[in-house]
Amino acid sequence: MEEADAPPDQLINVHHDVLQLTDKEQQLLHHQDSRGLVGNFQQEKLEREAGKNWDKFYKRNETRFFKDRHWTTREFQELIGCGEGTRTLLEVGCGVGNFIYPLLEDDLDLFVYACDFSPRAVEFVKSHPKYDESKIRAFEYDITKDDLNSKVGDAVDIISTIFVLSAVHPDKFKDVVSNLYRCLRPGGMVLLRDYGLNDMAMLRFAPGSKLGERFYVRQDGTRAYYFTREEISQLFTNAGFEVSSVHYVHRQTVNKKEGVNAQRVFIQGKFLKP
Ligand SMILES: C[S@@+](CC[C@H](N)C(=O)[O-])C[C@H]1O[C@@H](n2cnc3c(N)ncnc32)[C@H](O)[C@@H]1O
Repeated sequence: MEEADAPPDQLINVHHDVLQLTDKEQQLLHHQDSRGLVGNFQQEKLEREAGKNWDKFYKRNETRFFKDRHWTTREFQELIGCGEGTRTLLEVGCGVGNFIYPLLEDDLDLFVYACDFSPRAVEFVKSHPKYDESKIRAFEYDITKDDLNSKVGDAVDIISTIFVLSAVHPDKFKDVVSNLYRCLRPGGMVLLRDYGLNDMAMLRFAPGSKLGERFYVRQDGTRAYYFTREEISQLFTNAGFEVSSVHYVHRQTVNKKEGVNAQRVFIQGKFLKP
């Protein structure tokens, strides 16, 4: 798996439409189909063992894989607030806390619920030196279930989902988004960043790793889906949200030492519960 936000030698950050592929890149995508889709038996196993595979990921990598996300208040100014008192943030698929701890270090007036279905990830969040039950509550939870509001209530101000929905089977996107909807207060918002169509990592999957349209399995059994802007908007509006914004983030990472020029494509959206 690729670290989604690894600092490269140089970054050019632009926001615009679908990244157009060169002929060579198109060929890479066609080549992925040469061995067809992963069979049903294996696909069902991956679904059954999704939590186990992520837990093994954290057994192997511990807290070393993802970097702390320091861009979040720049991109999601809603996190900063404007003196309205303590607000509630629910970070779903929190991993080891790379999204939440930078926010707490910035002393934002937030109470944070953080959940993940990997028990090891939750343990890492809890063993962080800044873990303080008066500010943060971490717990195990699979967001494809339907009762997240029984854990956090129905008046959460902000939900963040950062590179998480892409790890879920597309058949379950609808259930996940409805599950989130039920936890928010009216006026509450979901902040999302995830993998976008034609991301460099999408082109790199070898034949034999395709599970479906824009859906792949990595060697470690974790899965990755690459979203279009239209479908993510549709997904959230169908669940009752209003789209505040949704766009691609194109990031060119230039590694001068290795001469590698890679295009990362993310999708970023803000969805309001009316
Ligand atoms: C790429 S990591 C992102 C972690 C974190 N959001 C961050 O920004 O660093 C994806 C996380 O989603 C979690 N995840 C995937 N599917 C999940 C599910 N169905 N329920 C809860 N967590 C899930 C994984 O265990 C993993 O920790």
